[in-house]
Amino acid sequence: MNGERKVAIVTGGASGIGLAICHELIRQNVYVIISDINRLDGIKIEKDLNKVNECCRYVYMDVTDFHNTSTVIKEIYQEFGRLDYLINNAGIAMYGELFDMTIDDWKEITDVNLWGVIHGTQVGYAIMKEQGFGHIVNTASAAGLGPSPVSSAYSATKHAVVGLTTSLHYEAEEFGIKVSVLCPTFVDTPIFDRAKAININKILMKEQLKKQKMMDPQKLAQMTLDSVHKNKVIICPMPMRRTMDVFFTLFPSAHRSLMRLVCKISRKNRLENV
Ligand SMILES: NC(=O)c1ccc[n+]([C@@H]2O[C@H](COP(=O)([O-])OP(=O)(O)OC[C@H]3O[C@@H](n4cnc5c(N)ncnc54)[C@H](O)[C@@H]3O)[C@@H](O)[C@H]2O)c1
Repeated sequence: MNGERKVAIVTGGASGIGLAICHELIRQNVYVIISDINRLDGIKIEKDLNKVNECCRYVYMDVTDFHNTSTVIKEIYQEFGRLDYLINNAGIAMYGELFDMTIDDWKEITDVNLWGVIHGTQVGYAIMKEQGFGHIVNTASAAGLGPSPVSSAYSATKHAVVGLTTSLHYEAEEFGIKVSVLCPTFVDTPIFDRAKAININKILMKEQLKKQKMMDPQKLAQMTLDSVHKNKVIICPMPMRRTMDVFFTLFPSAHRSLMRLVCKISRKNRLENV
């Protein structure tokens, strides 16, 4: 039993945004379960963070595996007697034209980005309903709020996560459960190096993306938890988001022109075009 101390599970917690959220939760005195498929980094992070205070534990969890996800979350709940936060954050990126993709590519990305979130939510929600409280935060992306040419599969999974989470937000209210979706834009994490590039020159794609102003993951984590504490439905820390929304609502053709440009530039990175 953990008594009064809050408990969080963060999936994909061994890197990037997930790790930054773990740091921020620990700073707020939450006991954190860092779950990830990356055992090497997870164990090292656990060791480093526990040097000063017992504040976290690494557990292996593959979000694509429902049995594994369910067992881990249930065991943590049984041991600690509470689950305050479940951050379904694990995700992968994939670039490529739809006609270059195979059905296995689709399965690979939906398994992690969509089914991974569904698995966690399904188990965590039932536990939170039983205990009568808790907050689920699902990481989507700004690519879940609008088009993302030459990353259609990524965008599709993230739109699904936004739909799932914003709908559940209202279903869950009656049971004292809070549900939010995080929609970051460009955050400085290893996701760009790890991304799967299908018939795309990954180095060029990365260079192009890195031209965007990248947000510091720790800053994003702070802003995220501030918004979580305010129970915001959509957490979108993109600077200028509101101004852009107003601008593109007033001038939709400007948005279409921008998307055509994004498509054209990204397409130049196809292997036969470079
Ligand atoms: N970095 C960005 O610019 C950005 C922007 C928008 C949304 N996001 C989203 O934020 C989330 C975190 O991304 P990040 O940038 O920190 O990436 P990252 O690559 O730094 O971290 C992702 C983590 O997820 C883990 N992971 C991958 N597959 C897994 C699986 N099957 N089970 C458990 N863990 C798994 C990886 O091992 C890694 O530790 C993702 O969902 C991503 O789509 C990132």
